[in-house]
Amino acid sequence: MTETAEERREAAVEAALGKLDLDAKTRLLAGQDMWSLPALPEAGLASLVMSDGPIGVRGVHWSADDPSVALPSPTALAATWDPGLAHRAGVLLAQEARRKGVHVLLAPTVNLHRSPLGGRHFEAYSEDPYLTGRIGAAYVRGVQSGGVGTTVKHFVANDAETDRLTVNNVVSERALRELYLAPFEAIVANAHPWGIMTAYNSVNGPTMTEHHHLVEEVLRGTWGFDGVNVSDWTAARSTTGALTGGLDIAMPGPGTVYGENLARAVRDGEADEALVDAAVRRVLRLAARVGALEGAEPVVTAPPPDADGAALAREIARRSFVLVRNEGGALPLRPGRIALIGAAARDARVLGGGSATVFPARTVSPLDGLTAALPDGTLTYTLGADPNTELPVADAGFELRAVCRDAAGTVLGTRSAPSGHIQWTGADLPDGVTHENLHSVELTGTFTPRESGTHTFGIKGLGPFRLTVAGTVHYDDVQRPDGDDPFLTFFGPPVPHARVGLTAGEPVEVSLAYTVPPPDGRPMRVIGFTLAHQDPQRAPEELIAEAAEAARAADTAVVVVATTERVESEGFDRTDLRLPGHQDDLVRAVAAANPRTVVIVNSGSPVELPWRDEVAAVLLSWFPGQEGGAALADVLTGAHEPGGRLPTTWGSLADAPVTRVVPENGELPYEEGVFIGYRAWEKHGRTPAYPFGHGLGYTDWGYESVEVAVTPHATTATVRLRNTGDRPGREVVQLYLAPVEADPTRPARWLAGFAGVEAGPGETVEATAELPRRAFEIWDEATGSWSFVKGSYEIQIGRSIADRRITATINV
Ligand code: BGC
Repeated sequence: MTETAEERREAAVEAALGKLDLDAKTRLLAGQDMWSLPALPEAGLASLVMSDGPIGVRGVHWSADDPSVALPSPTALAATWDPGLAHRAGVLLAQEARRKGVHVLLAPTVNLHRSPLGGRHFEAYSEDPYLTGRIGAAYVRGVQSGGVGTTVKHFVANDAETDRLTVNNVVSERALRELYLAPFEAIVANAHPWGIMTAYNSVNGPTMTEHHHLVEEVLRGTWGFDGVNVSDWTAARSTTGALTGGLDIAMPGPGTVYGENLARAVRDGEADEALVDAAVRRVLRLAARVGALEGAEPVVTAPPPDADGAALAREIARRSFVLVRNEGGALPLRPGRIALIGAAARDARVLGGGSATVFPARTVSPLDGLTAALPDGTLTYTLGADPNTELPVADAGFELRAVCRDAAGTVLGTRSAPSGHIQWTGADLPDGVTHENLHSVELTGTFTPRESGTHTFGIKGLGPFRLTVAGTVHYDDVQRPDGDDPFLTFFGPPVPHARVGLTAGEPVEVSLAYTVPPPDGRPMRVIGFTLAHQDPQRAPEELIAEAAEAARAADTAVVVVATTERVESEGFDRTDLRLPGHQDDLVRAVAAANPRTVVIVNSGSPVELPWRDEVAAVLLSWFPGQEGGAALADVLTGAHEPGGRLPTTWGSLADAPVTRVVPENGELPYEEGVFIGYRAWEKHGRTPAYPFGHGLGYTDWGYESVEVAVTPHATTATVRLRNTGDRPGREVVQLYLAPVEADPTRPARWLAGFAGVEAGPGETVEATAELPRRAFEIWDEATGSWSFVKGSYEIQIGRSIADRRITATINV
């Protein structure tokens, strides 16, 4: 028999392993820096490079010097309910990764929206494990079809951010299997990921980087995962614990529990070299797959043709926008005067913060997009309300670069600064700069104000700073921690130091110089500080009155409301779901002034919309990626319909069934068991603002019939539906499975299938969906296995979990 490519790769892996001594092997299991593993020329191995993920590929620098395509947030991708589009997103990201010399994309994030308070939900797909698994599997297949690896993350139960490094999530085995592990299982089964990332948190005791049961027994044993297990950044804490727990790579380096620590443990008889070999084998297999191991043919030898990133970002964005309300056909916009209102209409929030940050070459705001799309003279813009409750990062109007100097003041190197935020980790320093020769970093350049008045400048960060604006030194002192927790300096508000009267359109010189403190002995060095800036502040009532006036004078008012990076980001959770600042008051005032008020909600995850019944239309735009404003113009003008359906229930915090994200004594019990998201809303008999699956589009659909075929192997539903509206459209046909006999231990119904279809006006079309066997199973804790629950079920088919149009009953 001829050898398969896979067998040849395995042979190359064994050959390479045989060339490595213990020190080389243990070195390979530890990051050599923030993003890469060491090259081992003796085994023909190149340095494997990893990068975040998931909406773009940042590359190895936290800098705009090498920009990246920024796709819409993962919540947006899930809102398309379109695995085909997720696959194309993956292909594009592989192309980006190859362009940047990246072998492994640290994505996708497939944790669940357990509680709406989770601060990082924009980066995960859904509250539903089936939808998450379908989108995640398609994304992984897309990335890997471009020859680039993925690390499905964060395995497992990293569903909130509070105390994420230490929290022990206490989760029943049933909830783990049916909810939190389910997307990982589906992706392993359907997409064969080449990697997984183990989370910071613990689950039922052991921390995830040492979780022998879930990693070795479940993931590798039962599911047959053959890829690599990389720790979340700094999540590996114990040399032998991680090794026996099945962790292959400890990131980042230098200075990890692996490397020389692991070599020593083997020599001291504390760690088993066979386990080291097994881990090295998996790393070499990854290298072989991505083409980083000499003599091994990569899985993909001819990557797919290049795609247009901006065009795809725009397509995904408009397909993700969810029209949750559209009274009297307020959208699409009719010709006439449009009053565009809101800070985020001008300074769009296109992506969520934290490790998911990338630096796109351009961003299109709603103001840019609508200005380009609407006839001249029909659009006005007013600010209305500022969502920032503190000084934001210096951004619009600033042209900055970072200049690095040594102790003698000689310039060592420079780097462009995309905003006033500097974050250089480990060896990620401008060319010519090292931690040894670096003495100061000066953020310098010009600021051209958009408004005349008193501008405020401030600093976030610790240490000696000098702030100069328009030739005047406003601060020259040491900024010290406020309280005991140095993290507050990074997560807390910036300190205002200068109030300067400036004139719109007249540039001034700005400089913030930071003196780098001497090394403190920590292996990982970080240069991080922020220049913050706030435009002239006007009384909120005055801004709102001005916006209401503009709305009154227009045919339609379009208000863009948004969260800020202080509301939704990585590293912390939310404490409420309100829109920050005076945005609720703004919407109410505008709606009172103009009955045709359309609100665009620019947030990555649910916010409360207390005025939602007072406005004509509400469109959720997520964090829409770099082309968000262009996509918004596409759907507002009616060139395209908004295609999204809610991947997560939107409701108020007071009604939300699962709200606890704060551990007590280090533990967070998942007391609700299998009832999260819509499963919980239904169990508690509560009605959310907008149900799971909801989304209107611009046409209407009649559900005509369903036929179900049940065979021993599959249950397949074929649904006939008609586009009853007057324009072409796309519908997401959703299938919910409901036991006829209510069982209090199971949800009333759950998503078991979906299919997207397109049809012209008046046309009928068929949607076919196969319900997986797993949809009928529960995890039986007594036997520790899946149990198929026989009986009568309704397959309820419709437009959302609440708008069910036709039903078929089956006996299985
Ligand atoms: C995040 C990961 C990310 C890693 C590297 C961590 O803080 O949780 O999702 O991949 O950093 O940036």
